[in-house]
Amino acid sequence: MIEIDGLSRRFGDVLAVDDVSMTIERGSITALVGASGSGKSTLLRMINRLIEPTAGTVRIDGRDTATVPHETLRRGMGYVIQGNGLFPHWTVAQNIATVPRLVGWPKARIAARVDALLDLFGLDPAAYRDKYPAQLSGGQQQRVGVARALAAEPAVMLMDEPFGALDPIIRAQAQRDLGAIQRRLGTTIVLVTHDMEEAIRLADRIAVMRAGRLLQDATPAALLADPAPGYVAELVGASDRAFRLLSLRPAAELAEPGTADGPPLDADVSQREALGALLSRGADAVPLAGPEPRIVTLAALRRRAEVPS
Ligand SMILES: Nc1ncnc2c1ncn2[C@@H]1O[C@H](COP(=O)(O)OP(=O)(O)OP(=O)(O)O)[C@@H](O)[C@H]1O
Ligand SMILES: [Mg+2]
Repeated sequence: MIEIDGLSRRFGDVLAVDDVSMTIERGSITALVGASGSGKSTLLRMINRLIEPTAGTVRIDGRDTATVPHETLRRGMGYVIQGNGLFPHWTVAQNIATVPRLVGWPKARIAARVDALLDLFGLDPAAYRDKYPAQLSGGQQQRVGVARALAAEPAVMLMDEPFGALDPIIRAQAQRDLGAIQRRLGTTIVLVTHDMEEAIRLADRIAVMRAGRLLQDATPAALLADPAPGYVAELVGASDRAFRLLSLRPAAELAEPGTADGPPLDADVSQREALGALLSRGADAVPLAGPEPRIVTLAALRRRAEVPS
């Protein structure tokens, strides 16, 4: 558990982070959302003390991070820097191996881990392990940056816009991968993003920041159902709420027995994805994969999309 208590950081006249307190549960994903300059990166970087707070404390599992040597603290936390921060003169494999080498893993274990991570992120190890960052696309560099942060299976991952440069399809895939990795390893993730959709899809809690202050810290469903008046409500977009709530809910919840034309959707798609399939197929019903024939209908989605106000 990460406990942030009265945390502030001033740069000259700018109060970049202003008295933020929040608790991040072990094994959860927290998204920090807010406009450019709202203090997201500064808050993230105070968690591993890449930036020292002006006031306040951060405790990890009860221990004040001010009492932990910087090296120890940073080795225990993966960090994905905004941009991607790969070392340009190191190969992909050397970049991914940074922390495992620092903590003294045997060579064979490091090599196996590098290949496993490249596989996981859809990069053929034989083709990519000896390339240099400049030989990769922006999206590939970002995936290597995330792989590097995951290499030593840290208990905590701090990720600053890790998927910013990815195109929508690869981005959705990377988000699913991250979710799967997180569930498998029980990693605690703090993720900065500009993208409310990404936050809603991935996070257990969303923290909205503005001008250094934490305006609201809530589950995605609570944020959509009951956003704080003003900025948060605007950000969440009243008119989009119905649509966004759909992306949180499994289509399977609305399934009914029946058959319909076309390939079945995966059993775990969201209601939003089901809606997309219905619209693109011009159908009133789409089949959903599963042991019994079942469908999701436009009528059921329409009933479901009505947001209580
Ligand atoms: N090293 C620094 N020196 C001076 N001012 C800084 C420094 N780092 C950040 N700031 C200021 O603090 C504020 C918050 O910056 P921060 O980088 O945390 O924002 P952010 O929410 O991550 O923005 P973005 O979405 O653009 O990355 C900004 O006004 C920024 O100009
Ligand atoms: Mg930033």
